[in-house]
Amino acid sequence: MSPIIDARGLTVSYRVGSASLARLRRRPDPVVHAIDEIDLVVERGASVGIVGESGCGKSTLAKALVGLAPLSAGTFALDGEQLGTRRTPQQTRRIQMVFQDPSASLNPSMTIGQTLRELLRVHDMVPAEQVHQRAGELLELVELPVSLLNAYPRRLSGGQRQRVGIARALALEPEVLVADESVAALDVSVQAAILNLLQKLRTELGLTLLFISHDLAVVRHISDRVVVMYLGKVVEDRLTEDLFRDPRHPYTAALLASAPRMGVERRSGDTALGSEPGSLHSIPSGCRFHPRCPIAQDLCRETEPALLGPTAAQHAACHFAWTNRPDESAHRGGGEPDQGRLVRMVTR
Ligand SMILES: Nc1ncnc2c1ncn2[C@@H]1O[C@H](COP(=O)(O)OP(=O)(O)OP(=O)(O)O)[C@@H](O)[C@H]1O
Ligand code: SF4
Ligand SMILES: [Mg+2]
Repeated sequence: MSPIIDARGLTVSYRVGSASLARLRRRPDPVVHAIDEIDLVVERGASVGIVGESGCGKSTLAKALVGLAPLSAGTFALDGEQLGTRRTPQQTRRIQMVFQDPSASLNPSMTIGQTLRELLRVHDMVPAEQVHQRAGELLELVELPVSLLNAYPRRLSGGQRQRVGIARALALEPEVLVADESVAALDVSVQAAILNLLQKLRTELGLTLLFISHDLAVVRHISDRVVVMYLGKVVEDRLTEDLFRDPRHPYTAALLASAPRMGVERRSGDTALGSEPGSLHSIPSGCRFHPRCPIAQDLCRETEPALLGPTAAQHAACHFAWTNRPDESAHRGGGEPDQGRLVRMVTR
């Protein structure tokens, strides 16, 4: 069976200056790669968390997958069907996004019922005579009273609005739900309720869930697998408990060490993230984490590490992820690690 998500080399570039000025100066087009050659393979029904510091490209990856950000390079197949940025309505329905701020995307002058019914009609999801009933069922699915069909968004609490945001995504009967910081703006108790709802929906509807969050505790709770991003790249991709127990990329280790309640064991060389995140405008040579890495060697400054691992479920992009780590205090000119037995997640 093909994976539900099979993305290879996904790249999204944004222009960050004047193209004509660059031509006059005989310089290349001024672009940054917000995501840079990302590979992501996800099996149907999985729950994958995506984490990383602000600006690392999490939302851009989400938008690329749902067709809201045009790809500069790479391919994306959904259950074997190649999808570009221009999608048919049928293709659009298959992968839907739940945003951080549902208020921003709910029309304040329409009741919840009007919003849901319009969506169902535009996408021709059910026969006209069933639209009203289906709108009610959608509210029940997200555990809201059907009476809220007559309510305007301003009458709803933040948690209720987010449930409506989820109902709206589910109205199109997607196979994949991409939740981008969907609980970040909510109180902790409301967050827990929404997370439980997402888990329940995933199981009951057989959804595949991509869950983007700054909050590692939340990601640990909801995900079977975690993808860690740094400056537009995937740097670690592991089963959740493996990653939290034994992070293999120094950036992941530092992220976890920065979240003190995670109960992660520190190893020699792990430091919490103190320095500023790097900038897409000046990507470091070799490993892009090297200016912040406590165990960087000469090799790291020269050669970009590939995303490799000993099994299909264990990948990290660090020269020393699966070998003996250099000591932080050791001479910084270490030799090349033996990576002969490691495999790439996908073969292009
Ligand atoms: N439309 C755009 N034009 C130019 N640059 C952009 C655009 N959208 C995003 N970027 C840049 O791309 C990079 C990745 O942004 P993105 O929003 O994907 O990050 P993120 O990981 O979701 O961050 P956050 O955690 O703050 O939401 C950032 O440097 C951002 O400034
Ligand atoms: S490749 Fe080198 S700089 Fe990059 S994370 Fe690994 S040890 Fe640090
Ligand atoms: Mg974002």
